[in-house]
Amino acid sequence: MKAHVIAVVNLKGGSAKTTTSVFLAHSLGATRRVMLVDADPQGSALRWSGLADWPFPALGLSIGDLHRRLPGVIGDDYHVVVIDTPPLEERANIVHSALRAAHVVVVPMAPTMMELDRVGPVRTAVEDVASLRDGSLPVRVLLNRTVANATSTDTVRQVLTEQGWHVLAATVPRLERYAQAFGASVPTDDEPYRAVADELADVAVMEASR
Ligand SMILES: Nc1ncnc2c1ncn2[C@@H]1O[C@H](COP(=O)(O)OP(=O)(O)O)[C@@H](O)[C@H]1O
Ligand SMILES: [Mg+2]
Repeated sequence: MKAHVIAVVNLKGGSAKTTTSVFLAHSLGATRRVMLVDADPQGSALRWSGLADWPFPALGLSIGDLHRRLPGVIGDDYHVVVIDTPPLEERANIVHSALRAAHVVVVPMAPTMMELDRVGPVRTAVEDVASLRDGSLPVRVLLNRTVANATSTDTVRQVLTEQGWHVLAATVPRLERYAQAFGASVPTDDEPYRAVADELADVAVMEASR
């Protein structure tokens, strides 16, 4: 399997994992062959793909041995695999398996003190799988549902950075078009997610040249 695997992970439901996975996959899919893997047994991304016309395939694989099964399932036909995961607190086994399969982890979170307070277990999970995988696993926080002109984005970015997290420069605003996106077609040229895709492509290039 030559695909670059991006896992979208956070502790809780409602942290925009599915929305991020789906929009990011569409942005990446504009120039690459993409597969979206829905590893959440709730299957929201898979249902969404069935309701709307997506330009790439989606596959449900909510299993704890994703890292073993994925290469056989994906083959060599894809450049990028985006994995939407269940909440870490609910299905740790599946999320651990997605982390073992991943080349980069995206942690979407709103810039609030509450979400900041909950991000620690994600780092613990990444550390837990570190010894089980080859190579380092870069993690990128995506500040999401940001509010224009609010200080929260900068404040939370600063705290995260002090805690040692890498925070993407790109942010995704809180907007009705994301809140109401489920079940509808998704643009491949959505500007915030294009910027996220570009930054993640840079992470991939950096890792490949290490
Ligand atoms: N940028 C955004 N702006 C506004 N609402 C958003 C945004 N991103 C996600 N949402 C909404 O937040 C809720 C949770 O998102 P979802 O992607 O389902 O989270 P998760 O997969 O982590 O449970 C959904 O109602 C979704 O529409
Ligand atoms: Mg979800």
